[in-house]
Amino acid sequence: MKALRISTMITLALALVSGAALADGTSVSANEEVAPSDAEVARRAFLENDQCYQCHLEDENLPEHFFIDDIHMQANLSCAGCHGGDPASDDDEESMSEEAGFLGVPSRSEVPEFCGRCHSDIEFMRRYQPRIPTDQVNRYSTSLHGQLLSSGDDNVANCTSCHTAHGVLPASDARSSVHPLNVPSTCNSCHGDTDHMAGYDIPTDQYEQYAKSVHGVALLEKEDTGAPACNDCHGNHGALPPGISSVTQVCGHCHVNNLQFFEATPMARAFEDSELHGCEECHGNHGVARTSDEMVGTGDASVCMDCHDDGDDGSDAAGRIRAQLDSLTEVYGIALERQEEVNTKGMDDVDIGFILQEAHQSLIQARTLVHTFDPERVGPRTREGVEKSKSAIEIAESTIQEYSFRRRGFGMGTLFITILVIALFFRIRQMESS
Ligand code: HEC
Ligand code: HEC
Ligand code: HEC
Ligand code: HEC
Ligand code: HEC
Ligand code: HEC
Ligand code: HEC
Ligand code: HEC
Ligand code: HEC
Repeated sequence: MKALRISTMITLALALVSGAALADGTSVSANEEVAPSDAEVARRAFLENDQCYQCHLEDENLPEHFFIDDIHMQANLSCAGCHGGDPASDDDEESMSEEAGFLGVPSRSEVPEFCGRCHSDIEFMRRYQPRIPTDQVNRYSTSLHGQLLSSGDDNVANCTSCHTAHGVLPASDARSSVHPLNVPSTCNSCHGDTDHMAGYDIPTDQYEQYAKSVHGVALLEKEDTGAPACNDCHGNHGALPPGISSVTQVCGHCHVNNLQFFEATPMARAFEDSELHGCEECHGNHGVARTSDEMVGTGDASVCMDCHDDGDDGSDAAGRIRAQLDSLTEVYGIALERQEEVNTKGMDDVDIGFILQEAHQSLIQARTLVHTFDPERVGPRTREGVEKSKSAIEIAESTIQEYSFRRRGFGMGTLFITILVIALFFRIRQMESS
C-alpha cells in the first residue's frame, strides 16, 4: 500500500518535472542536432592532442584494419597505450624513441605478454571495467594454441588472431570478431584453411560440419545465441579439444536432463572404462543432427545397434523403448487428426488443445528419458501420454457427434419451416382465389 503510494508520487513528480521542462522550452526538440555527450567531447579533444594518432592519420599510415571505435581507442588508451612512446610529441624520432618507452611492434609470440601488461593487471583493469576478468593470458598459456606458440609455432592463434589488434570490440558488439555470430568464421579463418593447417594431422571440416548441424543452423541462420558457437564447447582462452570426460559435461551445460539421466546409467560407466566419449558416440560433435525415434530400436538407423547385437540386453531394451515410443506417437497422431477435424468444423475446443499439450509434454519427456536406456523409466511416461491422447480423442469424438446431432437438428428444423412456408403459401393462394 505504502509502496504503491510512493511510486504514484514519484510518477506524478516526474510528470510535473517533465511538464515544466516542456513549458520552459528547455527540453530537446526532435529536430535540433543532439549535442555531443561530455565523454564524446573529451574523446575528440584527446584524439586531437594525440600526436601518434594525428601523424599516422595524416600520413595515411594507420595500421591495417584500424577502427576508430576500437575499445582501447574509446577508452583513450590509444596507440601509446599499447606501443608505448610519447603521444605528446609531434616529432617521430622523439615520440617513437626508446627513451620515450616506445616498444615497437611485438612479434607473434610476444603478443600475449604485450596484451597481458594490462589485461593481467587487476589493479589497472579495475580502474576501467572491474567486471572484465584478468585471467586470459594464464588460461591461454594452458591451451594448445598457447603451448604451441611458446614452443615457436607461429601458425596457432594468439590474442590478435581472434580479437584483431586495431579493431578490438567486446563480444557483446555485433561487429566484434568474437561476437557469438562471428566466432565460427573467426576460428574457421585458420581451421578451414587447408594450406594453413597443412602441417597438422587434424581435419579442416569443423565449420562445414558445424554450419549444417542443429547448432549451426540455430546460431548462424536463426541467430539463436542460446545455441553453441565454437567457443562454447572449446572455451575462449583455454581452447583445447574437450577430453573424454569433459565432452559430456560440455554438452550437459545446456542439455542438463540428458546429462543427468545418462550419467546415472551403468552404460555411462562402461563408456568410461572403454574410453568411449559420452554424448558424442551417438550424436557426433560438429555435425550434431536433429534427432528422431528412428535412432533408438533395432532397425538400421538405430544408434544402439552400433554397439549392441541382436538379443543382448542392450538390443532388448532398445526394442522395448522404441515400441513404447511408437505406441505413443501413433495414438498421439490420431488425436491430432481428430483435433483437426473438430477445428475444421469451426468448433474450437480448448480442452482438447490443453490435453494434447500435456500429451506432447509426455512425448518430449519420454524422448529425453531415452537417456536412461531403461524401458522401466520410459514406459510410465509414454503410458501417461497415451492416456492423455486417448482422452483427447474421446472428447473430440463426442464433440464431433454433438456437431452432427446439431446439424441433424438444424436440418430437421429447416425442413419443418420450409414445409410450413409452402403450406402457408398454398393456404394464402386458396384464400385469395376464394
Ligand atoms: C610525426 C609522425 C609520427 C608520429 C608523431 C608517430 N609516428 Fe609512428 N610512425 C610514423 C611513420 C612515418 C612510421 C613508418 C616508418 C617507420 O617505421 O619509422 C611509423 C611507424 C610506427 C610503427 C611501426 C613501427 C615498426 O617497427 O614497424 C608503430 C607501432 C608506430 N609508428 C606507433 C606510433 C606511436 C605509438 C606513436 C606515438 C607515441 C607514434 N607512432 C608517433 C610516423 C609517426
Ligand atoms: C590494443 C593494443 C594496440 C593498440 C591500441 C594499437 N596497436 Fe598497433 N599493434 C598492436 C599489435 C599487437 C601489433 C602487432 C601486429 C598484430 O599482432 O596484428 C600492432 C602492429 C602495429 C603496426 C605494424 C603492423 C600493421 O598492422 O600495420 C603499426 C604501424 C601499428 N600497430 C600502429 C598503431 C597505431 C598508429 C596505433 C594508434 C592509432 C596503434 N597501433 C594502436 C597493438 C595495438
Ligand atoms: C594499455 C592497456 C591495455 C593493453 C596493452 C591492451 N588492453 Fe585490452 N583493454 C584495456 C582496457 C582498460 C579495456 C576496457 C576498456 C573499457 O571497457 O573501457 C580493454 C578492453 C579489451 C577488450 C574488451 C573486453 C570486454 O569484454 O569489454 C578486449 C577483447 C581486449 N581489451 C583485448 C585486448 C587485446 C587482444 C590486446 C592486445 C593486442 C589488448 N587488449 C591490449 C587495456 C588494455
Ligand atoms: C582462440 C581465440 C581467442 C584467443 C587466442 C584469445 N581470445 Fe580473448 N576471447 C575470445 C572469445 C571468443 C571471447 C568472447 C567470450 C564471450 O563470448 O564472452 C574472448 C574474450 C576476451 C576478453 C573479454 C573478457 C573475457 O575474458 O571474456 C578479453 C579481455 C580477451 N578476450 C583478451 C584476450 C587476450 C589478452 C588474449 C591473449 C592472451 C586473448 N584474448 C586470446 C577468443 C580468443
Ligand atoms: C591463427 C589461426 C587459428 C585461429 C584463428 C584459431 N586456431 Fe585453433 N589451432 C590453430 C592451429 C595451427 C592449431 C594446432 C593444430 C594441432 O596441433 O593439431 C590449433 C589447435 C586448435 C585445437 C586443438 C586441435 C587438436 O589438435 O586437437 C582446437 C580445439 C582449436 N584450435 C580450436 C579453435 C577455436 C575454437 C578457435 C576460435 C575461437 C580457433 N581454434 C582459432 C590455428 C588457429
Ligand atoms: C557442440 C560442441 C562443439 C562445437 C559447437 C564445436 N566443437 Fe570442435 N570439437 C568438439 C568435440 C566434442 C571435439 C572432439 C574432442 C575429442 O574427440 O577429443 C571437437 C574437436 C575439435 C577440433 C580437433 C580436431 C577435430 O576435428 O576433431 C578442432 C580443431 C575443433 N573442434 C574446432 C572447432 C571449430 C573451429 C568450431 C566452430 C566452427 C567447433 N570446433 C565447434 C565440440 C564442439
Ligand atoms: C550453449 C548451449 C549448448 C551446448 C554447449 C550444446 N547444445 Fe545442443 N542444442 C542447444 C540448443 C539451443 C539446441 C536447439 C537448436 C534448435 O532446435 O534450433 C540444441 C540442439 C541439440 C540437439 C537436437 C535436439 C532435437 O530436438 O533434435 C542435439 C541432439 C544436441 N543439441 C546435442 C548436443 C551435444 C551432443 C552437445 C555437446 C557435444 C551439445 N548439444 C552442446 C544448445 C547447446
Ligand atoms: C547411447 C546413445 C546416446 C547417448 C550416449 C546420448 N544420446 Fe541423446 N539421444 C539418443 C537417442 C536415441 C535420441 C532420440 C530419442 C528419440 O527421439 O526418440 C536422443 C535424443 C537427444 C536429444 C533430443 C531429445 C531431447 O532430449 O530433447 C538431445 C538434446 C540429446 N539426445 C542430447 C544428448 C546429450 C547432451 C547427451 C550426453 C549427455 C546424449 N544425448 C547422449 C541417444 C543417445
Ligand atoms: C558406443 C557404444 C554403445 C552404444 C551406441 C549403445 N550402447 Fe548400450 N552399452 C554399451 C556398453 C559398452 C555397455 C556395457 C556392456 C555390458 O555391461 O555388457 C552397454 C550396456 C547397455 C545396457 C545394459 C545396462 C545394464 O544394466 O547392465 C542397456 C540396457 C543398453 N546398453 C541400452 C542401450 C540402448 C537403448 C542404446 C541406444 C539408445 C545403446 N545401449 C547404445 C555400449 C553402447
